[in-house]
Amino acid sequence: MHLDWDAAMTNRGAYPHFMLKEIHEQPEVVAHTLLGRVAGESVDLSKELGWTKEDAAKWRKIHFIACGTSHYATVVAAHIMETLGNFEIRTEVASEYRYRNIPIDEETLAVFVSQSGETADTLHAARLAKERGAKCLVITNVRGSTIHREVGEALITPAGPEIGVAATKTFTAQMTVLTLLGLYLAKLRGDLKPDTERRLTAALMDIPGKLATMLSKEKEIEALARDFADARGFFFIGRGLAYPPALEGALKLKEISYLHAEAYPAGEMKHGPIALLDKELPVVALVPKNALWEKTISNIEESMARKSPIIAIATEGDGEIGHYTKHVIFTPETEPELFPFIAIIPLQLFAYYIARQRGCDIDMPRNLAKSVTVE
Ligand code: G6P
Repeated sequence: MHLDWDAAMTNRGAYPHFMLKEIHEQPEVVAHTLLGRVAGESVDLSKELGWTKEDAAKWRKIHFIACGTSHYATVVAAHIMETLGNFEIRTEVASEYRYRNIPIDEETLAVFVSQSGETADTLHAARLAKERGAKCLVITNVRGSTIHREVGEALITPAGPEIGVAATKTFTAQMTVLTLLGLYLAKLRGDLKPDTERRLTAALMDIPGKLATMLSKEKEIEALARDFADARGFFFIGRGLAYPPALEGALKLKEISYLHAEAYPAGEMKHGPIALLDKELPVVALVPKNALWEKTISNIEESMARKSPIIAIATEGDGEIGHYTKHVIFTPETEPELFPFIAIIPLQLFAYYIARQRGCDIDMPRNLAKSVTVE
């Protein structure tokens, strides 16, 4: 099936901003990204990647290189892939990768992620990795972009044009492709347990419906943003797979509301950042019901002791979170690996409505460009 999204997607329709429209497109985008790549309960990227088992066994090092939101999608991917096999993974921002002495060789699979395919730092990093003999792959939303042409092998995120400067739907599309890539690589290497493949592909197929559930909470999130629009800034905390979406949630706020927002692995707060907490600095705690729940709760308690208001992103059915805060957005249950997909929706909406309350230029934030083609 071929969908020509372009015409419909460059028009805002009834939405006041492209960003809001693009946030709402995410269920469809994920469904579209899975199309042709998951059949039954099996991941198959062989139509796009001519890789053999021998290739996959040879790539002992996996490097993910990207900038901005695309970088955070790779941080999600690294966390997921660690659960799938014995991968040696690095995630690096492109502007650092280029200038460090990172060992890159024929045993390296270097994956470049760029929505636009035009980001200068990512492009230069790809040239470097290619020169050093790494196998290179690009994940991009723009077929025929410079990085696609130069790298050659690609997985396309079929999210359609993204107009809002702050990336939203391309982030979920990137997470989807990267999760499929991790599953496929683990499978080629013989590391992937059939149960894991079944469990995660079924859960991925359920993601569009769960994103729609989160989008139906828009009014609730708007009200929350109204309550917190005067905050001095925000702290975002999470552990394990709840940490990467905290990074992206904080980035969204910085980009469009111009508030200081910082994400920390919750357990690291005590090593410095906790000094910043007070009643004017709310903490957004991502606290899914999983093995790390209690640990994150104790970080919530530490923040409460410093009088920081708490906003929790918690799992539906968590009967205890209400003891800690009345500001809770519940997420539907999913497999633990896929929590970032669901958690990002309320964080995108929260940033959007905070920026709106503050009268910011949401689709074209100051000082930012959709793609940065200079170093
Ligand atoms: C710019 C944009 C960000 C984006 C980053 C990387 O800074 O403002 O939203 O995440 O570039 O862009 P890319 O197109 O390479 O994903």
